[in-house]
Amino acid sequence: ANYGVDRPLQAILDALFDGLQRLEYRGYDSAGVCIDAPCAPASASAAAAPDGRCPLVIKHQGKVSDLRARAAEVFSEQAYYDGAELYRRHVGIGHTRWATHGPPSATNSHPHVSGPDGAFVVVHNGIITNYAALKASLQRNGAVFVSETDTEVVPHLCAHLYRKKGGKCSLDQLVMEVCSRLEGAYAMLIKSSHYPNELVACKQGSPLVFGLKRSDRPATPTPTSAAHLDARAGRDAGRDQSGGAAPAGGGVEVWLASDSAALLTHTRDVVMLEDGDLLHIDPSGRPHVFNLRGAAGGGAGGGGGGGAANIADLEVTRACSRIEASAEAVMKCGYEHFMQKEIHEQHKTVADTMRGRLVMDGKPHKPLASSAADIIFSGARLDAAGAAGLFGGGAARAGSLELPPQAAAAAPAAPNGCAANGHANGHANGADVTKAEPFVMLGGLEGHVEGILRCRRIVFIACGTSYHACLAARKTLEDFAAMPVVVELAGDFMDREAPVFRDDTCVFVSQSGETADTLRALEYAKNKGALCVGVTNTVGSAISNATHCGVHLNAGFEIGVASTKAYTSQIVALTMVALLLGADSRAKAPKRLEAMRALARLPEDVSRALALDEDMRALAGQLKDAQSLIFFGRGYNYSTALEAALKVKEVALIHSEGINAGEMKHGPLALVDENLPIIVIATQDGMHRKMVSVIEQLLARNGKLIILCNGDDPDMDAFAARGCSLIRVPATVDALQPIVNIVPLQLLSYHLTTLRGFNVDQPRNLAKSVTVT
Ligand code: G6P
Repeated sequence: ANYGVDRPLQAILDALFDGLQRLEYRGYDSAGVCIDAPCAPASASAAAAPDGRCPLVIKHQGKVSDLRARAAEVFSEQAYYDGAELYRRHVGIGHTRWATHGPPSATNSHPHVSGPDGAFVVVHNGIITNYAALKASLQRNGAVFVSETDTEVVPHLCAHLYRKKGGKCSLDQLVMEVCSRLEGAYAMLIKSSHYPNELVACKQGSPLVFGLKRSDRPATPTPTSAAHLDARAGRDAGRDQSGGAAPAGGGVEVWLASDSAALLTHTRDVVMLEDGDLLHIDPSGRPHVFNLRGAAGGGAGGGGGGGAANIADLEVTRACSRIEASAEAVMKCGYEHFMQKEIHEQHKTVADTMRGRLVMDGKPHKPLASSAADIIFSGARLDAAGAAGLFGGGAARAGSLELPPQAAAAAPAAPNGCAANGHANGHANGADVTKAEPFVMLGGLEGHVEGILRCRRIVFIACGTSYHACLAARKTLEDFAAMPVVVELAGDFMDREAPVFRDDTCVFVSQSGETADTLRALEYAKNKGALCVGVTNTVGSAISNATHCGVHLNAGFEIGVASTKAYTSQIVALTMVALLLGADSRAKAPKRLEAMRALARLPEDVSRALALDEDMRALAGQLKDAQSLIFFGRGYNYSTALEAALKVKEVALIHSEGINAGEMKHGPLALVDENLPIIVIATQDGMHRKMVSVIEQLLARNGKLIILCNGDDPDMDAFAARGCSLIRVPATVDALQPIVNIVPLQLLSYHLTTLRGFNVDQPRNLAKSVTVT
């Protein structure tokens, strides 16, 4: 990135390593980088660029810190690499891989190259589904593959087409033709020694964001670029009008990543690339965006490869958005782990989710100061900041890649008819904001409430923790919206190709907004004509872009692989959706009012639950050697049992099951003895009486019980007298009790993990965003 003589190669590497380390949380098992180094004297590499540089690929199985050390070794062996004057312009790429096709190894990790000369170098997230056929055909043409990945076909295909064209082709045109032969999903970066200082990035189905930074250095006409990308490997893992000239007074640094978290230290001005986009950084360092979807020959992901269009005809404009995120959003801020930080900031993040959306006493309720992790995207599609316009209009300036002014221009109308972000719109049901009765506003659903209410049913579709949040909110929706509600696991939903109708509302809940199973279900439901609503924590994500309307969680970056704060914010958001949908029911008015008052008190209740931290550490000390942990819950808190069990198994690596207490007699009771620790969720909600009876039955079998209950509960006092341990949490309304209840159980799983010595933020074998199906 615009490294002049004062920014030697080491600085370029540091930028790549820092970026990859910011993405470590997504989960990976190996890493690699490629930079251009002066060709070693002995190297007669055919890949030497005209300027005498050769691609240097360094790969390693293990952590980025190990890769860093490996790079240091390479450079200490060959001091002449630091020929700084060669790096006024430079393209570097890096990648972390999460193995799917081929085990973790240095060979299988990215970047992948087009044979020994390494003329084409590629990093890739996603999966090339037709790789086997491509590989066979390339092998017939003499290509020698060294890895077991699908990705390796891409550099070979580039080299093959390059040769076929006698080298007479621009890099963007060449990659467009490569893309037309690929099927599957990808976010890819491609560099080549045939095209020094150029880079092509393309996106189809996997996230890719690019950021622009105006450099102060008077670098024109030699702006440069660096890029990095983390991975779900193999499945491995404009001119927007460059406006003609580079911005006055300096060059432009272009940064690319699969997640904007990696860009924050460089720039907050980002463009979320869309499916079919191909970004080309031309030899002078200027970015151009093309969209291949309409291209002859199939375009991105279309397979085929017929007559190729001229890429110059496909140039498009893309809007720049500014990410307003505090630096703390991606830092641990004194906590030992991100998961710990994210658990402990939930009293703020639940407040952030309702900020500007809950109108009490005629004005938006301001529960608490914004959390350190507050992140507000301007120029976004979803209702990122509530309907009260607290954060003003967006900063998008379609048609230009110039850096946007700070939140100045009006937000563009969302093409899907949703209200654009941050509109100072009124109550979605047309209510008067000055009236004293509390109500909920969700700008991202404005114009769609009637449509949802007219639907036959609501179908929630999600994976993992997000699925549990849907289960937690199901009854609230049933109660307030008085509609049938179905909750589906996205993968299972697609396995069955379950019936979806035009008069269904499908709600896709996803922290990342990029989960491949959920995304696939969204495409399916959209094709069936359903109204599609997104609830995500990532504005600009694939799900937020593809849905007709939606709600943004505003919970800030979630870095820990095990989702915590997104879960509680999802339940808050879905509860608000239920309140909004039921706003016109007179019969429900008292219950609605009670729920809204409870929402306003929720941050305080969550704080009180967080105060159980020490107790949970002590409990973890007692349970850390357990072979298995069982959680029983029912009603609203069946989801709590499932989510607590998921937390324990995914981070503490203890076998754990969440069981619907209503099913206890139909099998699970056989497991009960004096050894198996059982956590029973028995707060004073509508299921309390039934849970008392469950506890009696468990005690009759000598069950070793820990009961999660409310403070003032004589039934539970009696159980304590009979040897049960109690975890006492504040009481709230039934709909919100799962939020308060999960907090001590998240803390329990956290402490179990640290006491057992496992990796909290990157549990083994897991990834934060599963962008492959
Ligand atoms: C992965 C993560 C989970 C997450 C799930 C769904 O499995 O490890 O923490 O709950 O994906 O992710 P989403 O981003 O769609 O909520």
